[in-house]
Amino acid sequence: MKKKVVLALMLVGALSLSFATDGETLYTQYCQACHQANGEGIPGTYPFISGPIKNLSSFDVGREFVIATTLFGLQGELMQRGYIYNSVMPGYGQMMSDEEVATLLNWIVEQTSWQRRGVATQSAQPFTAEEVAKVRALKLTPDQVHELLLKVEAQMHGTNPAPGQNQNP
Ligand code: HEC
Repeated sequence: MKKKVVLALMLVGALSLSFATDGETLYTQYCQACHQANGEGIPGTYPFISGPIKNLSSFDVGREFVIATTLFGLQGELMQRGYIYNSVMPGYGQMMSDEEVATLLNWIVEQTSWQRRGVATQSAQPFTAEEVAKVRALKLTPDQVHELLLKVEAQMHGTNPAPGQNQNP
């Protein structure tokens, strides 16, 4: 009897392992090559995302932008600490399920050991698969994701952006 229970539990464990990929694995696989192991990026080439994702996750249009960038990519001008980026990030929506995108973004937000980890005062709600699904349904192009970034910047304008947030040009 006991043996069977243990066996059943092992089976459940093995199944969940094969279906759910953890945030760290997803980050290593899809983001690290450009944004580096600690989310610091390469100044001037790849923006840092450790602080920004944490800050953006504390307000609605910011969350939408982070999810949309991950799913659809981003193309257009981006100012960050004196550097102008005007390049292209590919989208990863084809590679990840809604659940995986949520897991990945939550993992990034939780990396308190990363430098410049953001100064969001409001504690962010965890990203959910439902929230990701809503953004996925918008089917945006990387240019349209950039329009979301302009909305984000407009919302932060005049609110004295803290270090680690995107600055307006
Ligand atoms: C091939 C390189 C590359 C990979 C891989 C990559 N990115 Fe990016 N990322 C970029 C570039 C380049 C930009 C700036 C795009 C621009 O200039 O508009 C960017 C911008 C961003 C931004 C906006 C930052 C800000 O301050 O507004 C976020 C958020 C982001 N990436 C998250 C991710 C996540 C999450 C992953 C993994 C799923 C990822 N990136 C994978 C190259 C990459």
